[in-house]
Amino acid sequence: MGAEQTLIVIKPDAFNRKLTGKILQRFEEKGFNIVQLKTYVFTTEKAQEFYSVHRNKPFFNELVSFICSGTVVACILDGNNAISTVRIMIGLTKSFDASPGTIRGDFGLGITDNIIHASDSYESFIKESSVIFS
Ligand code: CMP
Repeated sequence: MGAEQTLIVIKPDAFNRKLTGKILQRFEEKGFNIVQLKTYVFTTEKAQEFYSVHRNKPFFNELVSFICSGTVVACILDGNNAISTVRIMIGLTKSFDASPGTIRGDFGLGITDNIIHASDSYESFIKESSVIFS
């Protein structure tokens, strides 16, 4: 697997707790390059588009409301096997189940407020990064 790119979004809970620097440091120390980085505030429309794959889930409205509740930090990372490796580094969706050593495992306990989002496929990366960076 060669170099590829992925998107991470540091969620409002982590931004408010001033964890942005620690989280970005983990990806840099792992060897990823930051190719785009910005603070961002989702509108409801942009959040619904970003999370459209979940639109029929019972937690969709809560998810959209939470991601719009404050500032996020969006970042495109570049490096070997980025999509899969970054997903391993962030840990399981339910932070209380995430292993120590992962970002969610070390910093969170929540499900909706689970610190960080990362694209789960190339198609998701293209779609999600276009919502935030286009
Ligand atoms: P994220 O990686 O941003 O992708 C979808 C989000 O839905 C997930 O993280 C969680 O924050 C949120 N979510 C809320 N409730 C659930 C649930 N029951 N199962 C999975 N994801 C959930």
